[in-house]
Amino acid sequence: MITTICNDIAETIGNTPVVRIRHPLIPKGKKLFVKLEQFNPNLSVKDRTALGMINKAIETGRLKKGGTVIESTSGNLGKSLAMLGASIGFEVIIVVDPKVSSSALNWYKAFGAEVLIVTKQDSYGGYQSTRIDTVKKYVADNPEVYWPNQYDNNDNPNYHYHFTSKEVASMNVDLISGAISTGGHMSGIANGVKEINEDIRIAACDVVGSAILNKPFSPFLINGAGLSWRSKNIDESNIDVTVNITDEEAISICHELARTNGVLLGGSSGLSVMGALIGLQHSSVNSAMAICPDFGSNYLDQFYDEDWLKQKGVKLLECHTLFDRISTYAQEWVNKL
Ligand SMILES: Cc1ncc(COP(=O)(O)O)c(C=O)c1O
Repeated sequence: MITTICNDIAETIGNTPVVRIRHPLIPKGKKLFVKLEQFNPNLSVKDRTALGMINKAIETGRLKKGGTVIESTSGNLGKSLAMLGASIGFEVIIVVDPKVSSSALNWYKAFGAEVLIVTKQDSYGGYQSTRIDTVKKYVADNPEVYWPNQYDNNDNPNYHYHFTSKEVASMNVDLISGAISTGGHMSGIANGVKEINEDIRIAACDVVGSAILNKPFSPFLINGAGLSWRSKNIDESNIDVTVNITDEEAISICHELARTNGVLLGGSSGLSVMGALIGLQHSSVNSAMAICPDFGSNYLDQFYDEDWLKQKGVKLLECHTLFDRISTYAQEWVNKL
């Protein structure tokens, strides 16, 4: 066995493993795989996104060694940017809101990043707009600072178009499912995969309450996925089907996979797995792969905690209820797959 030596931590990003799942919700004879982005150095798909945006900024001269990067993030992207800042050599300012966990805060600080916490809610009752306004003001006052702006920056989907899509297309499954927020990874993957194999179907999964898929906004529990608006990086041109899944369903499927397969997923992965299970209900889909954006360790004191579930009024759904929900969603995809 040969040990690969990486020149720096960024070289460990990508090439994440794929695991076959066995579960009664998978129709007999069909296959469900999960692509575990938790195997990136900061345990999420955002290591890829950060690397794509930072490399491009350095290449085009928008970011110089010793320069500063500022970004609004609810969690994972900040970890990835802070890590790259420490490794490559630039300052990082992370703009967060009160929903941020103390472990994420300490994560950023461990890499030497500075943290700004906004406290004012936006008109939707969330914080995303306030965070963005804070960043805009900072950049207006300090024009030399680089703002990756993951929501509107083409370098986000472009990275996934060039790199992540090749990894996922090589699996040759009938359907690839994933969760959306900025839209970066799934839009890029969809565009790249269709060029390699147009027969692979792509499902984009969002949470009920998110406004991305042109639905009215209401607060939701899942972290990472969803938005109170639709960002420019959402490109549905190569996405075959979309679905909005409830917090309760996504959380329940995460508990199922943890208990039955030893796979500990974040909540947005629950959306993605639900999408893959819905796809597998269709006769043209015999194999599906759910891209699972992050690791469940981020949520041990949230939806993997019994008291938290009680406090939020979330009841874990039994398998037969999940099956009924999956069948109902599957009706919406008839004639689309
Ligand atoms: C846990 C998690 N899931 C899903 C997403 C959505 O990915 P994207 O922004 O590429 O749409 C993110 C992005 O922050 C995330 O952190």
